[in-house]
Amino acid sequence: MKNDEFIVVKIEEVHKESKDTITLTIPYKLNSKPGQFVMLWLPGSGEKPISLSGEKDGKFTVSVCAVGSFSQAVNNLKKGDKIGFRGPFGTHYKLPKDCTSIATVGGGYGSAPLSYLTEEAISQGKKVYFIEGARTKTRLLFTERMRKLGAEVLLSTDDGSEGVKGYSTDVLKNVLETHKIDKVFTCGPEIMMKKVAEISKEFKIPSEVSMERYMKCGIGVCGQCCVDDLGICLCTNGPILSGELALKIKEFGVYHRDPTGKKV
Ligand SMILES: Cc1cc2nc3c(=O)[nH]c(=O)nc-3n(C[C@H](O)[C@H](O)[C@H](O)COP(=O)(O)OP(=O)(O)OC[C@H]3O[C@@H](n4cnc5c(N)ncnc54)[C@H](O)[C@@H]3O)c2cc1C
Ligand code: FES
Repeated sequence: MKNDEFIVVKIEEVHKESKDTITLTIPYKLNSKPGQFVMLWLPGSGEKPISLSGEKDGKFTVSVCAVGSFSQAVNNLKKGDKIGFRGPFGTHYKLPKDCTSIATVGGGYGSAPLSYLTEEAISQGKKVYFIEGARTKTRLLFTERMRKLGAEVLLSTDDGSEGVKGYSTDVLKNVLETHKIDKVFTCGPEIMMKKVAEISKEFKIPSEVSMERYMKCGIGVCGQCCVDDLGICLCTNGPILSGELALKIKEFGVYHRDPTGKKV
């Protein structure tokens, strides 16, 4: 498949993960890797980058949280409805052969690509500490699926309704102090990812983050997703970056740009 070609297929399954997040199963073999994304297209609502939350047996999944017009329209889709996509695009998480134990730290729909990574890591015989944080218990995603896979699921909530009361970064610190972890992977709010990259650096453990920016073309042509000061496009050089590189990006955890290029 050429990257710029749209494929249109019927949705095979719709699974409600929480009040505002659904997972769509799309019957198409992408040959993707965890961390990559597709440009999902809904006629009449537009096109947006969405990370893959899994791929196996000739089907892939995406998990979308309703926050605006596009994501709300995706959340209204039913089994049998048509959806378009192109991809997969971007860099992927790298699981070194000699690493036996990893920690993932997710927040919100950021746990989607991490659930795909966890599946891959467990199939390679690696131990996974799946750390997830949310405002409250009902916003936690994929926890049962990860437990069933065999991951050690460690949760935190701001209100203490599930797991530790506090931040997922505190849970990570505790895991790194008490276990031998070879690599840390994160996806979620940028402030959380920045802290994860800093903590990993402090413990001298390599990390990878998934850095999102507003994207239009998804293939490195329009320049919409370039970041200060490095000037790299995140749709081709990212979204997955080493924590070390991400910490060199001036705007990481500080600001991003809206569709017109204005700093937000
Ligand atoms: C590489 C990449 C991967 C992505 N993967 C996923 C994914 O797996 N699942 C997913 O749901 N989205 C994902 N996104 C985000 C997605 O592309 C859209 O930005 C998102 O669906 C919102 O689009 P919208 O048009 O519905 O809302 P918009 O109209 O763009 O936004 C509506 C309002 O919500 C705010 N908003 C936007 N995003 C968020 C957010 N995450 N949390 C809180 N408020 C927000 C905006 O500031 C605005 O005020 C990804 C983005 C990138 C760049
Ligand atoms: S979205 Fe066009 S260059 Fe990245």
